[in-house]
Amino acid sequence: MRINGSTVLVGVIGNPVKHSLSPAILNAAFREAEMNWVYTAFETREEKLADAIEGIRALGIAGLSVTMPHKAKVFPLMDEISDSAQMLGVVNCIVNDGKKLKGYNTDGDGFLDAVAHDSGLNMVGKKVLIIGSGGSARSIIYSLSKAGVGEIAVINRTKKKALDAIELAGPVARYVEEDKISEVAAEADLVVNATPIGMSDAGTTTKFPIEPNLFSEGQLAVDLIYHPLSTPWMEALKNRKVEVYGGLSMLIFQAAKAFKLWTGQEAPVDAMRKAALYEIKKITQ
Ligand SMILES: NC(=O)c1ccc[n+]([C@@H]2O[C@H](COP(=O)([O-])OP(=O)(O)OC[C@H]3O[C@@H](n4cnc5c(N)ncnc54)[C@H](OP(=O)(O)O)[C@@H]3O)[C@@H](O)[C@H]2O)c1
Repeated sequence: MRINGSTVLVGVIGNPVKHSLSPAILNAAFREAEMNWVYTAFETREEKLADAIEGIRALGIAGLSVTMPHKAKVFPLMDEISDSAQMLGVVNCIVNDGKKLKGYNTDGDGFLDAVAHDSGLNMVGKKVLIIGSGGSARSIIYSLSKAGVGEIAVINRTKKKALDAIELAGPVARYVEEDKISEVAAEADLVVNATPIGMSDAGTTTKFPIEPNLFSEGQLAVDLIYHPLSTPWMEALKNRKVEVYGGLSMLIFQAAKAFKLWTGQEAPVDAMRKAALYEIKKITQ
């Protein structure tokens, strides 16, 4: 589409944000859907955040994705908040309907859509093991609790953060003590790495978020990392015939949720995935 006087503007706000894959992914979606919309990146310092959010209203920007370090800071600047953003205290998507700004959190539901797309797993009654208790783990734990899973077991380097995270889910979630890890891992239908261990530039010293030899054929694993597309943990699990997926689908499906919130239309996820893969391969070269 040609940019003209009717072009609708959306974007991502964060700092730093120039590395974000979202402009490539969302602009591919608008092209595919033949919509006269453009998505760009707004690198915004924290002290300018409130001004930037007022700017959305003044300029009629239709919506924003929100990334680090602003996800919690934009919360009090919204007129309305969705249930999941309210529970998590974190907004990653803003919709401007022309009168008010509403804050959403699309990460956890994007994860559920990604798992359904990649593996077809029906979450109801399933046992899920989560490694990590940061922002992504918290949103996934909350969405899993709404999806009717049987159990959410959580492991984290800092126990206190895990205990905080499981409160989002109520009695279905529990913290796993060190001596119970192998038992819980062996019984998990789905295991999720929500730590940066295995990320290209994470600088972590350990190789695996959890020992791969605790898992076996027939189990399902998701590593939220999407760069690299396959991590050492994923490779080790593949060798054990575990069905394993990377974080690319979650990235796509949470962006698809934002697309739907802004435009009211279903997102063209295949075109979005193709654009993301192209960008990741360019970074890797
Ligand atoms: N695919 C997607 O769309 C998507 C979306 C969001 C995030 N992610 C990925 O998910 C991962 C986590 O992101 P996040 O936003 O949740 O990060 P975060 O809020 O910083 O949380 C990081 C988590 O990893 C743990 N951790 C960090 N370094 C560790 C280490 N060396 N050993 C053991 N545990 C360690 C932290 O433990 P402590 O509590 O002890 O600090 C914490 O639980 C990242 O790789 C990120 O790229 C992917």
